[in-house]
Amino acid sequence: MVILGILGSPRVNGHCAKLLKKSLEGAAACGAKIKLIELIKRNIKYCMGCCTCFETKPELKIGVCPLKDDMSSILEEYIAADGYVFASPVYDVYVSALMKTFLERKIALTYRPKELTGKLPESRVPANFLKKASIIITGNCSDEYREVMGTPCFEAIEGHLMIEMVETVDQFYVGGIENLAPEVMAQRLSEAYLIGQRLVKSIEQARSQTI
Ligand SMILES: Cc1cc2nc3c(=O)[nH]c(=O)nc-3n(C[C@H](O)[C@H](O)[C@H](O)COP(=O)(O)O)c2cc1C
Repeated sequence: MVILGILGSPRVNGHCAKLLKKSLEGAAACGAKIKLIELIKRNIKYCMGCCTCFETKPELKIGVCPLKDDMSSILEEYIAADGYVFASPVYDVYVSALMKTFLERKIALTYRPKELTGKLPESRVPANFLKKASIIITGNCSDEYREVMGTPCFEAIEGHLMIEMVETVDQFYVGGIENLAPEVMAQRLSEAYLIGQRLVKSIEQARSQTI
């Protein structure tokens, strides 16, 4: 089983990165192969809104995008994984622009012909693949602001996951991130580790039930 971490913070050694890597460690301890995509290190252009990727070539698993950048290879890695851990800082009460740009381009994983305008697109990948995801969001506002700061971020990421039929296991908001006492950060890291473990077990359980 492959668990793919997707880092939406430009700070590759920042708080999101630490929590994400810890969750991947947890996944690895449960036998998963782990991979990490640091979005800031990839060339991801803005979606230009041409709709080519989701309106043409339904036979492909990844819709064709006229932009020449790293996104198609990222999506190859994405669909090859069994589970995902997304991590983003809160920037202006939402996911980072980096994460948002990635999410917009991920629409190439869906298909909706022009005649079905107004309907939700469908996943290009079969619905019975039983993938799951967990989401880690960090913000400087303390945990009491989880709903204001964390929820819009969870929803941004989950919107896509819903179309892909990928179920969310954990939504983890870590508030007050820039001023956490070392023992509190240690506690949050332990929670992130458990999130990675739970993700693998949850995927295994779902798959064993369908055999
Ligand atoms: C441009 C910008 C906007 C931010 N907006 C928010 C915000 O709306 N709410 C919040 O709680 N923290 C906000 N923060 C703080 C970041 O969420 C925090 O520094 C980040 O989660 C740390 O994670 P990192 O080390 O992985 O970058 C903002 C930080 C920046 C740089």
